Amino acid sequence: MCPVLLVLLGFSGICTGDFSPPQFNISLDLPPEERWLSIADHYDKDYLKKYAEEIIDFFVPKWVRKVISPVIELLQYFIPEPYVGEMQGVSAGFELNLADVILLNLAYEISGSCTSIVAQDTNGKIYLARNMDYLFPEILKNITIDILYVTNGQVAYTATTYVGYVGILTGQSPGKFSISANERSSGFLWENAVSAIMLKGIPDSWLLRNTLDEAKDYKEAVQKLSNTPTIRNIYYTVAGVNPGEGVVVSRNRTGAVNMLHLNPLNGEWYIVQTNYDHWTTPLTSDFRRWRTIIAMNDTQQENITFDTLHEVLSLVPIMNRGTIHTNVMSAAFPEHYQTVVRQNIWTPMFPAVGNRSATNIESTEKYNETIIAA
Ligand SMILES: *[C@@H]1O[C@H](CO)[C@@H](O)[C@H](O)[C@H]1NC(C)=O
Ligand SMILES: *[C@@H]1O[C@H](CO)[C@@H](O)[C@H](O)[C@H]1NC(C)=O
Ligand SMILES: *[C@@H]1O[C@H](CO)[C@@H](O)[C@H](O)[C@H]1NC(C)=O
Ligand SMILES: *[C@@H]1O[C@H](CO)[C@@H](O)[C@H](O)[C@H]1NC(C)=O
Ligand SMILES: *[C@@H]1O[C@H](CO)[C@@H](O)[C@H](O)[C@H]1NC(C)=O
Repeated sequence: MCPVLLVLLGFSGICTGDFSPPQFNISLDLPPEERWLSIADHYDKDYLKKYAEEIIDFFVPKWVRKVISPVIELLQYFIPEPYVGEMQGVSAGFELNLADVILLNLAYEISGSCTSIVAQDTNGKIYLARNMDYLFPEILKNITIDILYVTNGQVAYTATTYVGYVGILTGQSPGKFSISANERSSGFLWENAVSAIMLKGIPDSWLLRNTLDEAKDYKEAVQKLSNTPTIRNIYYTVAGVNPGEGVVVSRNRTGAVNMLHLNPLNGEWYIVQTNYDHWTTPLTSDFRRWRTIIAMNDTQQENITFDTLHEVLSLVPIMNRGTIHTNVMSAAFPEHYQTVVRQNIWTPMFPAVGNRSATNIESTEKYNETIIAA
């Protein structure tokens, strides 16, 4: 799957390692505790233990972990179904402590930076396209999976997620709508998550999944995503099935602070969301939004397809070393749901992943080199 633009830029051969992740079914008709067991059979438990340690160590110093483990385990009495049951199932199936599974699930709430695009082509077809960037990309690429959540033999919703992670950051309700979540900065720490969950708060990835599960159409999805309190700031990009059904919801813990809708009749046929409020200017070292807008303008509305959107998201630094996977979907055509895990070790590190200030200069230089080399 080598994107045409990259071939034109002389990168041919470098991106041949892109691959589709494994796909699994999870039956929603099973009790939550049993849903992950068959997936666990496909994975090497020692490898997963090692990766879990690495990720948890990054967020929680070992001595703190010892002290807080009992508290974290108590969280199971505060976490609602199906999340607690599924985490208990992950713990049993993968032979990990329940406290570690809970910590891992909370760790993903902390940081991640992404690019999402909602776009309408000249036929009125609506697309959602996203890059998922995160810490530990080389680990997460190995455990990225597509899941079909099935009930009564029908796909209720589809998601791209990670082995053992019960929330959803990228997903689609077939024939209805698609949603992606991008980090909106708030200085959030996992400690905040623990206390917020004790107060019955829900993470953004659970609200996204609840919405896929419950909302009957685009309108109801957007309402739910913009009105339900969560424990952290977030951007939700939502794409429907009818012309004009596209929105970026910028929100705080209470709900939406801003809604930016597609307005194709007015020439606004796409919206790009990275990790900055669209009414502000991104960090000068972060070219992703700017690069995406130029690429979308260059592509033109009449050329928007699954492939051209994938190509846009394959441009550096929209794709960077933190990018784990690229998704392109259109809820009206659910069978085309597409996930590509990226082989992109050659791309520059990206400032919005990890310590922003420390890597800014380095990444700008690398980006300029890449552009010049191209
Ligand atoms: C990912 O999995 C492959 C094959 O299972 C393994 O060779 C590689 O070391 C893994 N990568 C990381 C970062 O663990
Ligand atoms: C997953 O579920 C769908 C819908 O019921 C079905 O068509 C498909 O064959 C299932 N796949 C597997 C691997 O069981
Ligand atoms: C979220 O934003 C709304 C609208 O701007 C505001 O009324 C509300 O107080 C904010 N909530 C938090 C937790 O900051
Ligand atoms: C992209 O196109 C829009 C609409 O034509 C225009 O307003 C905007 O300035 C363009 N942006 C860039 C960076 O070229
Ligand atoms: C986009 O579409 C136009 C008109 O259909 C065509 O002339 C042009 O070559 C296309 N551009 C690209 C980059 O494919």
